[in-house]
Amino acid sequence: MAETVDLLLLGAGQLITCRAEKPLRGKQLADPGIITGGALAVRDGRIIAIGNSAELEKKFRDSSVSDIIDVEGRVVMPGWVDPHTHAVFPGYRADEYEARIRGDSYLEIEKRGGGIKRTVKDLRKIDEDRLYELSRRRLLKMIRSGVTSLEIKSGYGLDIENELKMLRVISRLSDQLPVDIVSTFMGAHQKPEENPEGYVKLVVEEMIPEVAETGLARYMDIFCEKGVFDLEETRRIMEAGKANGFGLKAHTDEIYAIGGTELAVELGAVSVEHLTRITPGGIKALSGSETIGILLPATSFGLASSHFAPARKLVDSGAAIALATDFNPGSNPSSSMPLAVSIACSQMGLVPAEAINAATVNAAWSIGLGTETGSLMVGKKGDFVVYDIEDYREIPARAGLDHSVMVAKEGRMIWERKGFRRESEVGV
Ligand code: NIG
Ligand code: FE
Repeated sequence: MAETVDLLLLGAGQLITCRAEKPLRGKQLADPGIITGGALAVRDGRIIAIGNSAELEKKFRDSSVSDIIDVEGRVVMPGWVDPHTHAVFPGYRADEYEARIRGDSYLEIEKRGGGIKRTVKDLRKIDEDRLYELSRRRLLKMIRSGVTSLEIKSGYGLDIENELKMLRVISRLSDQLPVDIVSTFMGAHQKPEENPEGYVKLVVEEMIPEVAETGLARYMDIFCEKGVFDLEETRRIMEAGKANGFGLKAHTDEIYAIGGTELAVELGAVSVEHLTRITPGGIKALSGSETIGILLPATSFGLASSHFAPARKLVDSGAAIALATDFNPGSNPSSSMPLAVSIACSQMGLVPAEAINAATVNAAWSIGLGTETGSLMVGKKGDFVVYDIEDYREIPARAGLDHSVMVAKEGRMIWERKGFRRESEVGV
């Protein structure tokens, strides 16, 4: 019987594979794994062959191929993996963006009732179905820009009822949308105004066990920061998370370095996130560990700050890094991975291949999907984006434009820009 193939994609001018068996570090990060004139074949959602077009055409000449797509010289790369988002929220806080530009700091805005506290107030009021629908529409835009997997954190409920509301919404998004969604419980995002003193105890003794019981989250995250959760509280909460079976993540060194990175590494966290103010000691701890540093360049940008995480130093010291948007209603309301990649290049000194590997394969490892997605390799999911460009470096270089024209999840087209071939600049 002839072999069957669900999808045969041919004619990629550059097939960017981002291939890796484990998170890429140091000099490896700069290899995009390009196949010129590339092609790939998918069956049952998984890549079964990858190589150049002539080779694959020959290989499957006698096969029964359901769908053949010729991308006529365009760039094909793995779907973006966004490993740090707060995409479930009631509404944007765009007025705070203006306030920051006028000179107010994130912490000042927080003090006068803005920031996370304001989103918490609104989230507690919003109906669950409406929260779902708003979030679903936001995610549709992310899919169109080429995101095929993402992580979403809770953390605007700050009580058991509303944290569970958020986690249920995340679970529903995961059931309804054609992307992989990894859920993170972030009850320790802030202390709620009604109960700052008793909150750590509540998180440790009631919220963590109850969320664990529901199975609604794979990871747990905490905002370890001056004035939010100190080191001792962070340790208590992370240890409770670990004891209840969660993988650990932590927001560390965002505004002040208080030792969060070092602590999270010591506790075996999967990732530490932000790292804007990471110290030489933090870099040393991270580079000697399996923990992945998730950097959020679009947050510095959205905060109108000129201070970025030291990506270059981290890579050169051997730490594994990933890139994410941090998409949230306040500090970065942009869900664009290409924008985050572009800022990582121009402001953090990563070369395009480093930024793209960090935003695909390393990002997948940082949310436990490293064996499933993030690179175009035999055995992984057929998750890819077709870009209407000829050189992958145009993605960061031609910033502010979205060049994605086709997005596939497990070998199935989940979005296509209608009529793109007629208007294309490629191959004219
Ligand atoms: O990752 N740092 C803490 N939390 C978010 C901000 C969320 C918000 O402003 O609503 C962050 O940037
Ligand atoms: Fe965050």
